[in-house]
Amino acid sequence: MAASIYSKVSSVFRPGLFSNKVAIVTGGGTGIGKAITQELLYLGCKVVVASRKFDRLSKAANEMKSSLPKDTTADIKAIQCNIRKEEEVKSLMKSTVEEFGRIDYLVNNGGGQFPSPFANISLKGWNAVIETNLTGTFLCCREAHQNWMGEHGGSIVNIIVDLWNGFPMMGHTAAARAGIENFTRTCAQEWAQHGIRINCVAPGTVWSETAAANYADPSIFEGAIPAVPAKRLGKVEEISAAVCYLLSPGAAYVTGDTIKVDGGSGLQGFSGKFVLPDHDNMPPYTWEEDIKKRKEEEEDAHTRTGPQSKL
Ligand code: ADE
Repeated sequence: MAASIYSKVSSVFRPGLFSNKVAIVTGGGTGIGKAITQELLYLGCKVVVASRKFDRLSKAANEMKSSLPKDTTADIKAIQCNIRKEEEVKSLMKSTVEEFGRIDYLVNNGGGQFPSPFANISLKGWNAVIETNLTGTFLCCREAHQNWMGEHGGSIVNIIVDLWNGFPMMGHTAAARAGIENFTRTCAQEWAQHGIRINCVAPGTVWSETAAANYADPSIFEGAIPAVPAKRLGKVEEISAAVCYLLSPGAAYVTGDTIKVDGGSGLQGFSGKFVLPDHDNMPPYTWEEDIKKRKEEEEDAHTRTGPQSKL
């Protein structure tokens, strides 16, 4: 028998806040997604976790299910879904309604990327990152709207990234997530009439085992600390707290917005994640030389044609 969720998880929100609510969390079996799933369960929510990699997902879901106390309204189910595939996303929404009767919340956390200098990103790699992050999130939002929320309302949170200054080595995912942030503002306006709120959470540098496994050198995480006003990395539970706030009635008047959860790092002009190499390949604009060259050309023309006749 696994330890109860109460001995492993806590929340600043009141117990039972999400009793009888139903959430879908994409990528809910690992890292930030798992922390969100655990807090939702702790608060009484029924959660469908969805991911492309079913073995890892169902193992995490079984483990979380076995830690639920007997008297809770919380429940969890794992559903395999490649968010890039329209039919699989439609089926995720339909299965959730079949299993738990409704969809109150959607947390678009599933995504993927790989570190690369921008100039080296292949078209295949670019398309894969755009399809997973931007298109996948679009499909999940649209299908949640079509299959439940358009008629009954709901709340959506899209997890993006600290992208305010570009994102060296991660330009593809920053571009995709900037797109998500923008369509979030469109949906907030078009869907308010259906009782749907939609917002983003932008994590700064947050350590999790899954995130660290993405990098050949996980010390890259520690390397970000000098540019973080909070002088530490973020914790997955700190992202989850912002997500739960946005889903909750406490955020009933918040839509189309983004909460940065980054210890202030988004305020720093330079993120510290990318060391700028020395070079002298950006010479200044030499307007004095332009004038000199123009004068020389004028004199040259004058000598060749002689003074212009006034006739
Ligand atoms: N996590 C990473 N890529 C994914 C995908 N294509 N579908 C669902 N979850 C994912």
